[in-house]
This record gives sequence, structure tokens and C-alpha cells, in this order.
Amino acid sequence: MESKKTILLAGATGFIGKELISELSSSFELKILTRHKDKLNPNFYFWNPALNEIDETVFENVTHIINLCGAGIVDKRWTESRKKELSDSRVIPAEFLFSKLEFIPKLEQYITASGINCYDIENTEKIYSEEDEIAHDFVSQLVKNWEKGADIFKTKCEVLKVRISFVISEKGGGITKIEKPIKMGFGAIIGSGNQAMPWIHLTDLVRLFHFGIDKKLSGIYHAVSGNSTNKEVTLLLAKKNQKRIWLPKIPAFILKIILGKLSILVLKGLKASNSKILAKGFEFKFKKIEDCF
Ligand SMILES: NC(=O)c1ccc[n+]([C@@H]2O[C@H](COP(=O)([O-])OP(=O)(O)OC[C@H]3O[C@@H](n4cnc5c(N)ncnc54)[C@H](OP(=O)(O)O)[C@@H]3O)[C@@H](O)[C@H]2O)c1
Repeated sequence: MESKKTILLAGATGFIGKELISELSSSFELKILTRHKDKLNPNFYFWNPALNEIDETVFENVTHIINLCGAGIVDKRWTESRKKELSDSRVIPAEFLFSKLEFIPKLEQYITASGINCYDIENTEKIYSEEDEIAHDFVSQLVKNWEKGADIFKTKCEVLKVRISFVISEKGGGITKIEKPIKMGFGAIIGSGNQAMPWIHLTDLVRLFHFGIDKKLSGIYHAVSGNSTNKEVTLLLAKKNQKRIWLPKIPAFILKIILGKLSILVLKGLKASNSKILAKGFEFKFKKIEDCF
């Protein structure tokens, strides 16, 4: 019997990574990197890419790397130092892993998380595909550099870049942040409410990563089940929690004061296509946003 392939996971101690570990654990040997010594156990290994720290024995037998590293894009206001942190936390881990290639001779595939918010957000009618040009705003350029950090692996192996949309799950993530005020009876529609919100259920996202390994995919793929709107999601969450949305819409200028430049991510949205992954034979379990709640 063929022995299991070994996947090295970076940035997998968070919201998506935990689910990905449970999706992949029966099919693959997993080795998980973390910067936190208190999280170590036989499958978890310490590293600190910013300080060039890693025990190189972790690379033994590794055939695949999945890199989900990245500081939270909407967690803090985008000051200049935060912007640097958002970029460094994505680019430095990839470059650090690349610098260790000599220890990973069996590497077949490098998979990176990436983001869907990389197209011209002002064009609200277009449904963007993977071939469309990357825009020039801060998040789009962050995505560009993030993916450039993955592309350096092309000299060695297949490189798969998964442009992740808004991830929905009962287990946490952004949806719990939207749901919290609604549960308390203070939910409100943001801006016009019509801004597009491409989304994917966490279950489908981790299945998509698994599919990408099984099918040896390379290139860019959107991880998007559908395109909803802020208003649709808010009303569905209100219905689920048996609450009424009675507050007026939150005007754009208030959000700009509260959130600064990152308000663009909640006030504007773009639509993205999933035709490319469907054409490869991937089937979504959660096809309609209503199914997620
Ligand atoms: N959740 C979403 O809706 C969504 C949507 C689009 C894209 N994404 C992207 O998908 C990836 C995973 O998302 P998530 O929601 O699971 O994030 P998360 O829960 O915040 O987890 C982030 C992970 O990145 C690692 N990390 C953070 N800063 C790092 C640094 N400077 N160096 C090395 N590792 C670092 C952390 O590892 P340790 O602290 O254990 O070392 C942690 O495991 C992120 O890159 C995120 O931008 C997420």
C-alpha cells in the first residue's frame, strides 16, 4: 500500500486551519507550524519565520505545503504599521519556507490562501474571473504580493492560489461578528446594503483545498459558492435569530469615521465567478446562502 503523503501546514491554528486539519487528517500525515510554544504537541512544530527559526527536521517527507499565514485584514484599522504587518505576515512566511527548499526535496505542490478582494471594487456589475486584472488599491496590491510570494515555488513544484471569499460557519469567523449585534437586537444594514458579498461555507472551503490536492491543481482558483449582498445576509441572520432589523441603515460616513480606510471592505463589494473550479468537477455542498443558516 502506498504510504500517506505528508502535508506541512502553516497558519493552520486559526479559524480555517482547524477545520482544514480535520478535513485532511484521515488522508494525509499532517505537520502543523505555529509561533506559539504553548500550542506544541506531537503534530505541532515551533517556528518563527520573522526570526528565521525552525527545526529543519519538520521538513522530512513533506510533499505538500499549505500556507494560510496572515494577520487578520479586518481586525484593526489600517495604519501604516498595520499595513506592513498585513503584508509581512503573508510574504515573510512564504519566503522563509522557500529558503528551506533544500530540506524539502519531495515537494510536489505549494498551496497558498489568497483573497478575493483584488479586483476593481468600483465596478459593481462585473462578475470577476481569475483572469481579470488585479486592481491598485491597498488590499488588491496586498493580494498581488501575497501571490508573488507563492509563485517563487514555481521553479520547484505546482503552485495553487486559492482566492478565498467571505467564509461562513457556525464555528466563528466574520459571520459571528455580523451576527453579534443582530442577536442583541441592534442589527443594521450597512451602507446601501446592496454591496456584493461573495461567500463560501467553511465546509466547502476545506473540501476545495482537499480537491486541489487530489486533482493536483495549479494556478488561481476562486473559492466562492455564490454572490450575496450585505442586506440579504443581515436579513437572513435576523430571521435565524428571530430578531427584527428596526434600526436605520448605518450611513457610509459613520463607518468611515469608525473604521477608517478599511471601511471600504464593508461598504463596497465585488462579484466573483466560480466557473473555473466547477469546470474541474468540484461540487459545492452549500450552493445557496440560505443553506448556510
Ligand atoms: N476567514 C475568512 O473569511 C478569510 C477570507 C479570505 C481570506 N482569508 C485568509 O485565509 C487565511 C487564514 O484565515 P483565518 O480566518 O483562518 O485566519 P486566523 O484565524 O486569523 O489564523 C491566522 C493564522 O495565521 C498565522 N499567522 C498570523 N500572523 C502570522 C505571522 N506574522 N507569521 C506566521 N504566521 C502568522 C497564525 O498562526 P500562529 O499564530 O499559530 O503562529 C494563524 O494560524 C488568512 O491568510 C486570511 O487572510 C480568510
